[in-house]
Amino acid sequence: MTASENTFKILSFETSCDDTSTAVIDNNYHVLSNCISSQLVHEEFGGVVPELASRLHLKNIMWLTRLALKKADTSLSEIQAIAVSINPGLIGSLLVGVSFAKSLAYATQKPLIAINHMVGHLYAIKLDYPDLEPPYLALVASGGHTELVYFSARQKYEIIGRTRDDAAGEAFDKAAKLLGLGYPGGPLIDKLARQGNRKYIAFPRGLDRKGDFDFSYSGLKTSIRTYLLKTPQEVVQTHQADIAASVQAAIVDIMVKKAVNYAVSKQVSRIVVAGGVAANSYLRQSLSSQGSRRGIEVYFPSIGYCMDNAAMIGAAAIDKFIRQEFSGLELNAFSTKGLRFV
Ligand code: KG4
Ligand code: ZN
Repeated sequence: MTASENTFKILSFETSCDDTSTAVIDNNYHVLSNCISSQLVHEEFGGVVPELASRLHLKNIMWLTRLALKKADTSLSEIQAIAVSINPGLIGSLLVGVSFAKSLAYATQKPLIAINHMVGHLYAIKLDYPDLEPPYLALVASGGHTELVYFSARQKYEIIGRTRDDAAGEAFDKAAKLLGLGYPGGPLIDKLARQGNRKYIAFPRGLDRKGDFDFSYSGLKTSIRTYLLKTPQEVVQTHQADIAASVQAAIVDIMVKKAVNYAVSKQVSRIVVAGGVAANSYLRQSLSSQGSRRGIEVYFPSIGYCMDNAAMIGAAAIDKFIRQEFSGLELNAFSTKGLRFV
């Protein structure tokens, strides 16, 4: 089957960090399968250990590929292209996915499609809202990135603001570590914060000034550390949920404020949120309600598509397949940061 025919299926791979994922998606953004093996081994180290991550990708990628095809009730011969995330991420982890995808493309003589992981996160929204198109403002917030990006068309975009130090997910993870909660911190703080008072402590909001759409979370980290040093342990224990809710508010409120302010000032009527932090329940509730008060529609991927997954990589590959933008076997992984169409 060729790109001129109107149905096709893509087998996709995502191995940029600590989740090995394989998926089969069709040209209508229907996810036929999306298999994820999360690496729990990193929990005991309080963060991802790159060497362990690549080894586990290597161990799991073959059976996960078989599983994705089986769940999609699809044979390899019914696949029209192979897509893989090539950057940004941990280089050893990315290399496992890229090498595997290249070998499979070579062995089966199928076209190979390279996807930027952050572009993949953005395309996750198509899995829930296939007809959603720019113009919109995208808030991309993951473990390594926090960016406000204005899209005037599918590939026409302008970076409005980005973090100057830690990413939002990283801020959650570091705060959870300081609070002794474990890893990854985002979901743990999110859960604990549900019983807490977010006004308990006024942690600082970085770069909170008009017209500045960059982010900074390093001051928050210092402030949490200082608070914990000067506060008796019993108080910290009793108010764990209040502290978590206050930390969460400090990370989220500033994102909501900047996204809504930009949208209002430029009369942008839609905001799309992407990345692991898009799973945060307070962000979902706060941005949706503040957006609707200003007449802005806010779109979040369903929770399962916020985290790293191969279905979003397949979704991003659909446009490239239609345009026949394929990569050769010289394709390589690289680790540099940023949302960039590759
Ligand atoms: O997009 P992602 O799965 O991986 C990267 O590309 O980095 O994002 C992972 C990040 C982690 O920092 C994690 O703590 C954060 O997303 N995260 C959350 C939640 N779920 C995941 N942060 C806040 N609230 C959540 N519910
Ligand atoms: Zn990610």
